[in-house]
Amino acid sequence: MKMKFLLIILSYISFTIAATLTCNKVKNKVCSSCTDKNYECKTDEKGNITSLLIKNQDFSNGIPDIIFSITTLKDLYLNKNSINTLPKKIVNLKKLRRLDIRSNKLTALPKEIGNLSKLKYLKLSNNKLSALPSTIGNLKSLFLLYVSNNVLTSVPSSIGNLTDLEELLLRTNQIQTYPKTIGNLSNLRILDLARNPIKSLPVQIGKLKNLKELSLTDDHLKSVPAEIGNLTNLEILDLESNVLSFIPEEFGNLKNLKVLWLDMNQLEYVPEFIVNFNNLERLDIHANKLTFAPEFIGRIKSLKILDLGQNQIRNIHFKFDRLVNLELLDLGWNYLETYPEEAGKLKNLKTLFLNNNSFTTPLPDSLKGIETVYV
Ligand SMILES: *[C@@H]1O[C@H](CO)[C@@H](O)[C@H](O)[C@H]1NC(C)=O
Ligand SMILES: *[C@@H]1O[C@H](CO)[C@@H](O)[C@H](O)[C@H]1NC(C)=O
Ligand SMILES: *[C@@H]1O[C@H](CO)[C@@H](O)[C@H](O)[C@H]1NC(C)=O
Ligand SMILES: *[C@@H]1O[C@H](CO)[C@@H](O)[C@H](O)[C@H]1NC(C)=O
Ligand SMILES: *[C@@H]1O[C@H](CO)[C@@H](O)[C@H](O)[C@H]1NC(C)=O
Ligand SMILES: *[C@@H]1O[C@H](CO)[C@@H](O)[C@H](O)[C@H]1NC(C)=O
Repeated sequence: MKMKFLLIILSYISFTIAATLTCNKVKNKVCSSCTDKNYECKTDEKGNITSLLIKNQDFSNGIPDIIFSITTLKDLYLNKNSINTLPKKIVNLKKLRRLDIRSNKLTALPKEIGNLSKLKYLKLSNNKLSALPSTIGNLKSLFLLYVSNNVLTSVPSSIGNLTDLEELLLRTNQIQTYPKTIGNLSNLRILDLARNPIKSLPVQIGKLKNLKELSLTDDHLKSVPAEIGNLTNLEILDLESNVLSFIPEEFGNLKNLKVLWLDMNQLEYVPEFIVNFNNLERLDIHANKLTFAPEFIGRIKSLKILDLGQNQIRNIHFKFDRLVNLELLDLGWNYLETYPEEAGKLKNLKTLFLNNNSFTTPLPDSLKGIETVYV
């Protein structure tokens, strides 16, 4: 009887301790001298802590234990704290919806991260992660996953189970191949695979029908799968800094493209299918091997920015009269001998690059009305 009574008292005390975890108490334990910039804590109407931000501390010897006892936490931000391990007891924070642990020194994640079933936002960029545990595929509610600037060499195939995922950032890692299951991420809107030494891309990438932005910048690609042409909702496609010498015809289906980066590749021709891109506002093909600027460019009325700089262009075959939206035209670093005088009639053209060409005469009057001309 006495024993039972004691237990009740004890559990009451421990409940009171848990329930009275205040923002100040936590602050005194973890960073008593933190400024408001480095410590932010929010409670709900009942006084329970729901959001905690701690920045710029030295947690290289471990994240303070008290944090794992705040079981009411929904949002946890722990940026720039020199954290090198995330302990298993992270699972105590069952209500966690947002975990932002960017800019630390994590080399691995505990497999228990997969138990945080409420997690919607997981930001792990700027760490030293070499792998993701396959349990990451259990985070069925995940909406956003950022793992840029790590040293991942692969992605677990279970990632394909994250069917609610809308943003996946894997920029600047060491990934050579991607699992086929990536094609199961049917709600993905943004996929950033830039700056990885990709050997080949799975054709299943063409199943990502909701994709709006795809970045494959600086991926050492010699070719891109024709299936990308199936991504008809794509608005931004970035293929900058690869070694592409051709773009598949199927890309002509990407009629919703607004921005197309093809700069710093090995293209000898501007792909003709872009003439059908009625929404294209920015076309960048600088630093390729173009020898002429074709006629059909003059028919892409929606263009605002056209960069054809750093090629070997001798002749401009397109007319300017329909390019009424053009604001910037870069023809610098080419082999032009005659000035594109017609460009002077474009009311919206504010910037024109003509520097480093082969003109032998001074800038004609017809181009002097443009706000900024580089010759
Ligand atoms: C805090 O949360 C716990 C568990 O969800 C709940 O029992 C308690 O009433 C809440 N409020 C306070 C002030 O502790
Ligand atoms: C995590 O989830 C796995 C699989 O669902 C389960 O077996 C394990 O007990 C869970 N671990 C914890 C600490 O909750
Ligand atoms: C999750 O992914 C793995 C690996 O791709 C697969 O074997 C498993 O069946 C998937 N689980 C669920 C529940 O979809
Ligand atoms: C996931 O992707 C794999 C490989 O493409 C495929 O075999 C599997 O059927 C897909 N699963 C679902 C649930 O779509
Ligand atoms: C996707 O693209 C490939 C190659 O371009 C094509 O053969 C296939 O029919 C397309 N699939 C769908 C579902 O559109
Ligand atoms: C390129 O043009 C700039 C001025 O526009 C000039 O200073 C420079 O010498 C030129 N370089 C070459 C290699 O022609």
